Parts: sequence; structure tokens; C-alpha cells
Amino acid sequence: MADGYVWFEGIAFPVPDFKPEVLREVRDKFVVKDEDVITVTYPKSGTNWLMEIVCLIHSKGDPKWVQSVPNWQRAPWVETAHGYEILQNSEGPRIFTSHLPIQLFPKSFFHSKAKVIYGMRNPRDVFVSSYFFMQKLNVAKKPETQQQYLEWFLQGNVVYGSWFEHIRGWLSRRQCENFLVVSYEELTKDTRSVVEKICQFLGKELKPEEIDLVLKYSSFEFMKENKMSNFSTLPDMFLNEGFSLQRKGVTGDWKNHFTVAQAEVFDEVYQQNMAGFPPKLFPWE
Ligand code: A3P
Repeated sequence: MADGYVWFEGIAFPVPDFKPEVLREVRDKFVVKDEDVITVTYPKSGTNWLMEIVCLIHSKGDPKWVQSVPNWQRAPWVETAHGYEILQNSEGPRIFTSHLPIQLFPKSFFHSKAKVIYGMRNPRDVFVSSYFFMQKLNVAKKPETQQQYLEWFLQGNVVYGSWFEHIRGWLSRRQCENFLVVSYEELTKDTRSVVEKICQFLGKELKPEEIDLVLKYSSFEFMKENKMSNFSTLPDMFLNEGFSLQRKGVTGDWKNHFTVAQAEVFDEVYQQNMAGFPPKLFPWE
């Protein structure tokens, strides 16, 4: 059970497995290698889905790995104490994950050829997904109401800070050749095309039947049942009744949860923060 936050450089983090000294070391000392493949997202943007796809591409659709090793060991979050330790001790090309805003990401990445797949999602759906997640998982400060959480979210007073700063920071790299942007919306609409795009980015040639397997084992239904990918093996003290990482898995659920007034405030803050970005970058616009 954990409440509150761990703070580092003005950004809030969950409590279990996060330490300011590790976060500092990850930013300043962790050596990213040219062969590394990294999934980066703001939390609740479809991170675990992307991690599963990347792992399955790596195994050419063979599900053995994703069904026998928890995702936080297969593709550790570099900023967690546990993930950092695994990565420091692993040889060869690594697959890992991060929710870090760009200013806290390992500095060594910025002069490496490591590949980043940046996953983004309509921030309204991110908000709803996050609200339910934080209620069911005891890892950080809990809001009392959805309205309160909306205020925290729009101010960036939630774990990993502001969605707007995260996306603005990371999208500044969108022209780099070792950076691929994918959205939850495109993934939902045409998963196969996005998987093929990721294969091409990673230089992996998979046969059509191997792609079929990637799609099968990374589907919502399979992941929801896979104990290695659904967080159900987390210690009981962190999980509340009814927790499910694979909650709904759809786009546009925010329309079922926002009041008209909340949608208007959200739009206003969105416009203030995202002015200057071409709307065609974002499939939800
Ligand atoms: P919802 O809460 O809207 O259902 P993250 O992995 O970044 O924590 O994101 C979690 C969100 O991704 C949840 O959204 C979850 O349902 C969705 N998700 C997880 N696995 C998925 C899959 N295989 N297909 C579609 N959505 C998935």
C-alpha cells in the first residue's frame, strides 16, 4: 500500500520502486547502446500493448517469451530501481520501456542510435484510463473525485507530470530517424499496418504468418488473460478489487465520462498548450 508521491526535479513519481537517487543516476550515468529498442509513452497511452508488440516482433510471433516472463522483466522500465538493475546487468541488445519526460531521460540516448518508439493517445482517454487505474492501484496519491483528478491532470500534478509537456518534449524529436511516433488510435484502427511499420523501423522482416501471430498474442483478449502482461502478479497490497490493466481498450471512452463543462475546460487547456503543432499529427483532432 502506498500513498503520496516520490518527487524528482519537480516531477511526481509513484512510490513503490522509485528513488530520487536512481532517477538521477538513470538520467546522468545510464549508458544507452546503439542496439537498444525503447518504448516511450506517457502512462496510460497503450504502453503495455506496444511493449507486447515489440517483444513479439523480437520472437517472430512465438508466444513462449511473453507467456513465461513478466513484462517488467522482458522490457523493464529503466527508471524503476528494479528495472534499472536488470538493465545494468543485461548483455547484448536490450528492449526497455520508459515513461520519463524527455528532460529526465538518459542523456546518453541523445548521442546514440538507439531506437525509440513513442506511443501517444488522445489525452482525454489517457485521463479516463489513468483515473480508473489510480483508483484501483495503490501506488500513489488518490483523487477523491474525477473533477479533482481532472484539475491535477491539467496542471500536471500527477505521476510523470504534465501530458502536454511530455508530448511537446518528445515530439521535438519527430524528425529524427531513430524515432517513430505511433498512436493508440492508429493501432486500434489498423493494428497490422502499425505492426508492419514498427517492423520496418526496427529492421525486422517477418513473414505474414509471423505477423498474424504478433497480432494474435498482443490482442486485448490475449493480453487480458496473460498473467505476464496483465499486472495480476503484482503483490495484493497494490491491487484493489476489480483492478484490470486491460480495462476497456477502446478509443473515445472519455465521451462516457466527461461532463460538457469538463470537456470545454479540457479543450481550452489543450488549445493553450498545443498551439503550434500541426493538428494532422494527432489522429484525435
Ligand atoms: P483503458 O483503460 O482505456 O482500457 P498503459 O499500458 O499505458 O498503462 O495503457 C493502458 C491502456 O491500454 C488501457 O486503456 C488498456 O485497456 C489498454 N490496452 C492494454 N492492452 C491493450 C491491447 N492489447 N489492446 C488494446 N488496448 C490495450
